[in-house]
Amino acid sequence: MNKTAVISDGSSSLGYEFAKAYLRKNYDVLILSSNKEKLKTAKKSLSKLSSSRILSLHLDLSTPFFLKEIESFLEKKDLQPSLLINNAELGYGENLQTASLKKIKEILDVNITALSLLTKFFADTISARNKSKAGMNNQGLIINIASFSGFFANSQHAVYAATKAYVISFSEALAHEYKDDNIRFLTLCPNMHPSAHPSAHFNVSVLEKKHWFSSFAGLLSGLPYKLSGLPYKIGYKLAYNMSSPKQVVESSLAHLRSSSKKSLVIHGRMNKLTLFLARFLPRQFITKRVAAQPKFY
Ligand SMILES: NC(=O)c1ccc[n+]([C@@H]2O[C@H](COP(=O)([O-])OP(=O)(O)OC[C@H]3O[C@@H](n4cnc5c(N)ncnc54)[C@H](OP(=O)(O)O)[C@@H]3O)[C@@H](O)[C@H]2O)c1
Repeated sequence: MNKTAVISDGSSSLGYEFAKAYLRKNYDVLILSSNKEKLKTAKKSLSKLSSSRILSLHLDLSTPFFLKEIESFLEKKDLQPSLLINNAELGYGENLQTASLKKIKEILDVNITALSLLTKFFADTISARNKSKAGMNNQGLIINIASFSGFFANSQHAVYAATKAYVISFSEALAHEYKDDNIRFLTLCPNMHPSAHPSAHFNVSVLEKKHWFSSFAGLLSGLPYKLSGLPYKIGYKLAYNMSSPKQVVESSLAHLRSSSKKSLVIHGRMNKLTLFLARFLPRQFITKRVAAQPKFY
């Protein structure tokens, strides 16, 4: 019997690449999405890649009933997932002053509540299964997608950044809480990658109009991009070393295959360098610099 992976928003960008990668590893894959059309299209194209089972479930993670829906779907299809990827998110680019109360609640529901409840449900289910089949070398894996944004207060998308800080803290803590349950936790801070969502994190056309060296590292050093004299696209690529969703997924899988036991993985040279530099700078200074970052969405 194949293993099963469950991926929130497995129908686009990073989630879709994870779905492809685990299909290649002969997993059955269940993708979740609030968009019926996206689910249909993704399921169709994924089914061309593998003979494993590809299942899709249409649900809204911001509602209180979503967990019941997943539970009954798993029961109906007789699925016993050993892998969960919490990838769905909302809220990048939302400013607190302009966001409605409804929107703020929705961001918290998806980024914090849904992620936590899914994690609890799957961790407990996998743990109970592992205990009942002791000695059978079962292993569970929970990948929580956080963000580099979670390390810094960010007044341009305060709620999003704060939810990602929650994900980092929550997920790292669980790596210890469940350490005797044969469940591995990976907290992933992906490098910037193009995404299809309307609130896309990265919009090249907008970016190209901004003549700034806008990476966090650039901000921290205070170096305006225009001083470098490089064409924007090249300068930007050098600064960010932006990745494709496929590269993010491949490097995560490489990390999981490696002997490293680190539960927090940060992608991107500049992200790593910035985090290192940030240790030596006052928090207030960083918050100010981050707030001054030009908007590129
Ligand atoms: N893109 C980047 O540069 C970047 C950088 C750092 C971290 N990240 C993190 O990486 C992960 C993937 O980001 P991405 O940019 O690849 O994806 P994305 O395009 O932002 O997609 C996120 C997806 O979450 C799903 N979602 C939102 N609200 C939902 C709801 N109520 N119920 C169910 N699904 C919901 C949506 O899928 P449906 O419309 O199909 O429901 C949406 O397409 C996220 O956790 C993000 O925070 C991304």
